[in-house]
Amino acid sequence: MLAEHAQKFGGFWSLLKVEAVEKYLRAYATAMSKQPFELVYIDAFAGSGSFTFGEGMSLMGEDEAARVFAGSVKRALAVDAFKQLFFIESSDRNITSLKAIASGDKRVEIISGDANVKLIELCQRLDWRRRRGVVFVDPCGPETDWAILRAIAVTKALDVFWLFPLSAVYRNAQRWTRFVRQFGGLAKVDPGVCYAANVFVCASIA
Ligand SMILES: C[S@@+](CC[C@H](N)C(=O)[O-])C[C@H]1O[C@@H](n2cnc3c(N)ncnc32)[C@H](O)[C@@H]1O
Repeated sequence: MLAEHAQKFGGFWSLLKVEAVEKYLRAYATAMSKQPFELVYIDAFAGSGSFTFGEGMSLMGEDEAARVFAGSVKRALAVDAFKQLFFIESSDRNITSLKAIASGDKRVEIISGDANVKLIELCQRLDWRRRRGVVFVDPCGPETDWAILRAIAVTKALDVFWLFPLSAVYRNAQRWTRFVRQFGGLAKVDPGVCYAANVFVCASIA
């Protein structure tokens, strides 16, 4: 039997994050409701579908720390306007959980594997002339490749939420300098990166 499970990560900021994404998805659905496009949602680092702060929040009581919250996947599923939802995840356990959550929902395609590869393949596979959508890029650390931003930009059809931990920037300053330079180069070569999509890049202090 497929079993859903809650991942342990983050803290209050994770709740703010998923609430911000959910509000954006609902506003996006409203803004696009009169447009002749099929709306899609792509969760590139989908998680298991729900999460708990776990023992990471030392100032909380046990009951509060054990509370389970709906993750980005569940929040997106609740937005009817999305006609297709793609969940990319590399962990087998999370894939099992996502299958349990989405079972029977014909809008959902669950893609197992590395988002740095699978998201690019997905952007290239779908016909963007009749689709518009939102991509949520929510890795645990700096495991994303700028090449995925290029693939997203080429669609000229996707809004992007891209999160990364601020600690990853200063711990990997040298590597990130290269990435940021690469991004500058990307914007010059590919101005689409700057205007084809709304790109929200958020840093968390976790
Ligand atoms: C911060 S969690 C996602 C949380 C989820 N967006 C939410 O709000 O409920 C990041 C997830 O990315 C997955 N992951 C890590 N590296 C990955 C990769 N290269 N490709 C796909 N998924 C990956 C992890 O297994 C983890 O479940």
